[in-house]
Amino acid sequence: MTVQESLPTPKTRSHTVAQALAETPGTSVTIMGWVATKSSIGGIKFATIRDGSGYIQVACKKDRVPQQSFADFEKATRESAVAVEGILREDKRAPGGKEISVSGFWILSLAEDWPITRSAVKSSSSFLYDKRHLAIRGRKASAVIRIRAEIVYAAFDHFVKNGFTLISAPSIVQNAVEGGSTLFEINYFSRKAYLSQSAQLYEEAALAALGKVFIYQPAFRAEKSKTSKHLTEFWMIEAEQAFADQDDNMRLQENLVKSMAERVMANRLEDLKTLGRSFKFPEVPFPRITYEEAREISTKKGVPFEWGEDLPTEGERFVSKEFEVPFFITGYPLTARSFYHMTEETNDKVTKSADLIAPEGYGEIATGGQRIHDYRQLMERIQKQDLPTESFEWYLELRKYGMPEHSGFGIGAERTTRWMCGLKHIRATSLFPRTINRVSP
Ligand code: 4AD
Ligand code: MG
Repeated sequence: MTVQESLPTPKTRSHTVAQALAETPGTSVTIMGWVATKSSIGGIKFATIRDGSGYIQVACKKDRVPQQSFADFEKATRESAVAVEGILREDKRAPGGKEISVSGFWILSLAEDWPITRSAVKSSSSFLYDKRHLAIRGRKASAVIRIRAEIVYAAFDHFVKNGFTLISAPSIVQNAVEGGSTLFEINYFSRKAYLSQSAQLYEEAALAALGKVFIYQPAFRAEKSKTSKHLTEFWMIEAEQAFADQDDNMRLQENLVKSMAERVMANRLEDLKTLGRSFKFPEVPFPRITYEEAREISTKKGVPFEWGEDLPTEGERFVSKEFEVPFFITGYPLTARSFYHMTEETNDKVTKSADLIAPEGYGEIATGGQRIHDYRQLMERIQKQDLPTESFEWYLELRKYGMPEHSGFGIGAERTTRWMCGLKHIRATSLFPRTINRVSP
């Protein structure tokens, strides 16, 4: 068969890889993507092309394509951006069961030698994250990104379906919501300001306007500890509702997490497979244990701590390992909680709050509770804890103008993703993680 020397480079694609894989054999397609792998068997050259929607095998025979196309196919390096034109064929051995029989192939942007090699990765423990801007192209990294996106879509869906309004809040603030020790201070035109730890206080203002609100935005914590579950910048999904107590709050959380799991299992099964991960579906209601019970388990496992202290990370891991599905730890002591927490009527040392703990050792993914809605009580609490009254003035004032019983929570997008994906370290859930020793790329 005689073939032309070259064909004009296509301007656009007719199909994404996922769309091509869904077409019937015999269809002519033009796809664009990146070269993931190359090989040859006999006289046939193969490549796997990925475009973010999927991977497809393409096969190229020298005598079936213009010279330029064959030359480009041979020259195309891993991660080169390419255009491929051809006919879809059924091929049981190909991933996705289909292959493109190439009639045209063009290099759109030639890649240099891919730097992420096995030996480079082995040579330094930080290499993969130093090269994160490239490493995110890998199968596993992109599977995690897609699962994380699905979790967030599920949250938006769940809140919108249940009558919550999406709000926004400033990231530059003057209040410590979760204690002064993890505040990032910034110089705000010669005044002290901080990066927001949580949008909760703004949500509480917004609920008096909107009833039920939610927010998805970055939170900042100057975490000085190196752990597998702390980032210094992360994304929090928070919700707050009026006329709702702590029971309502826990119900909202468990239903939210159930819909996240439902959606990930429905839409991202392939990605979970890529990660070699499966997790038990969390039916509601989630199990609940008390702080006392958690303390007993932790103590039995060799991590004792005083009543009133927060669960030590190791202790929390042991408790979490006792469960296969997420569960609540209820009734935290006030001494382990932030100033705004409401306490039990019968015991002013115990808060109406709970942590939602992911199973299998992953640990806390959400914290929520009922807030003090009475002006005088909140004023007393702020004074007792020696907090700067001035910066909480507006927050206090909310209690003067019709503040009903209300509750809310914050769930970390990265912590939830880490659990669902079964990842050792939280940094793998972030496209560009920020930790105590990393602020780039
Ligand atoms: O438990 P936290 O500190 O609670 C709050 O900030 C409340 N004001 C939220 C609210 O009630 N509206 O943070 C909530 C969640 C944690 O359970 C965890 O999932 C995540 O945010 N989180 C972190 N994720 C990654 N790195 C960190 N350093 C995190 N700190 C908290
Ligand atoms: Mg917490």
